[in-house]
Amino acid sequence: MNTGTNGREHWATRTGFILAASGSAIGLGNIWRFPYMTGEHGGAAFIVIYLIAVCLIGYPLLVNETIIGRVSQRNPVGAFKTLAPGSPWWLVGALGVFTGFVILSYYAVVAGWSLAYIFKVITVSQGAGIDNAEVFSRHISNIWQPIGWQALFMILTIAVISAGVVKGIQRCVTILMPIFFVLLVLLILRAVTLPGAGEGIAYYLKPDFSEVTGRTLLGAVSQAFFSLSLGMGVFITYGSYLHEKDEIPKSSGAIVGLDTVVALLAGFAIFPAVFALGFEPGAGPGLVFITLPAVFAQMPFGTFFGLLFFFLLSIAALTSALSLLEVVTAWLIDERGWHRKKASVVMGVTIFLVGLPASLGYSVFNCFSLPFFEIDLLDTYDLLANSILLPLGGLLTAIFVGYVWGTEKAIKEASKGSTGFTIGKWWAVLIRYVVPIIIAAIMVTGILDSLGR
Ligand code: PFF
Repeated sequence: MNTGTNGREHWATRTGFILAASGSAIGLGNIWRFPYMTGEHGGAAFIVIYLIAVCLIGYPLLVNETIIGRVSQRNPVGAFKTLAPGSPWWLVGALGVFTGFVILSYYAVVAGWSLAYIFKVITVSQGAGIDNAEVFSRHISNIWQPIGWQALFMILTIAVISAGVVKGIQRCVTILMPIFFVLLVLLILRAVTLPGAGEGIAYYLKPDFSEVTGRTLLGAVSQAFFSLSLGMGVFITYGSYLHEKDEIPKSSGAIVGLDTVVALLAGFAIFPAVFALGFEPGAGPGLVFITLPAVFAQMPFGTFFGLLFFFLLSIAALTSALSLLEVVTAWLIDERGWHRKKASVVMGVTIFLVGLPASLGYSVFNCFSLPFFEIDLLDTYDLLANSILLPLGGLLTAIFVGYVWGTEKAIKEASKGSTGFTIGKWWAVLIRYVVPIIIAAIMVTGILDSLGR
């Protein structure tokens, strides 16, 4: 086993960390959420705001969390306990563990839909005149099928996590991430070479600043948090498996860059195909599960490309789910002394149970969707996690390093192992002032905006 002097398991190679971390970052958020958020929020205008959010908030926070993890060599709760003993700051770590729990519970539901569609796309693509909205709604309003796929997804996640950091996570991402990139390139090439693809590219990239409101800004910031897996201790946990010789500023740059490029590219795999085959871009989550199967049904070799697409989406979801379960598992191993196998199985099963209402929200609990009082349980989990819990976690972690533990110590830690590029005073300014002010302002505006609707 690859253990350090402290007996903790460590990544076997530098690329192991980069692949695992970008596997966490690249997920449903890039392929399912980013394109429809962009489509709904003013195209390129949203992209510009998103890129600003990534530079001003995403990168600094990712470095911040990774530093906390590496210096403490502990899970999020233990990390705060180590750096600020006897203080209540460990609650920020606990908030992160709780958030991971909530996100994975509904993430596995959507990932289950994706697994199901690897097979469904074959049947859907073959039948002429099939109403895809109907197929999707029939799938999610069925009680057992989505639950079965959600369970299978959780079993896969638990199997990898129970095998450990190197033998489980690192081995899995080393196989899956290269496959992911090849599939993505294939799908983009297919989409942009369809006749009429240019219109989709124009739709995707045309800036419309009139769509930009307080909610758009909140949308961009919460998307950055979600997409980069920030604000809940993933990077504290993954950073705790780093050696002192590993370069944090450069590796973090690679992770942020990869995640952003994949989000942008996902739009190029989707919109050109949607327009080329004469479909509406279709707002909202239905884009991937309703519009795309219809697009594949009409495309030459569409069944094959459809299958590749949902396979790609499932890989992306799995490598992200690994990090979510790892945070919770690492907490039980470090703080409660549980065995890895027991921790991952007990938590995986509990998270599956907590996710059931989100899945059943479209069948058994559909009664909540009354005409005046519509609650989509899955959306509610999503909103709670992305618009409140993640930004709050990021804000508190920035305040902790900026004002309690100290940015000098953080910069010193980050410079260990760094050759060439490292962080300096500019990073401290971002963490102490820019990050907290932007997050606080956007959370307040977003909440007021939603209340005033
Ligand atoms: N970053 C993942 C995505 O874009 O789908 C989702 C995610 C994973 C969010 C891990 C938060 C997290 F801690």
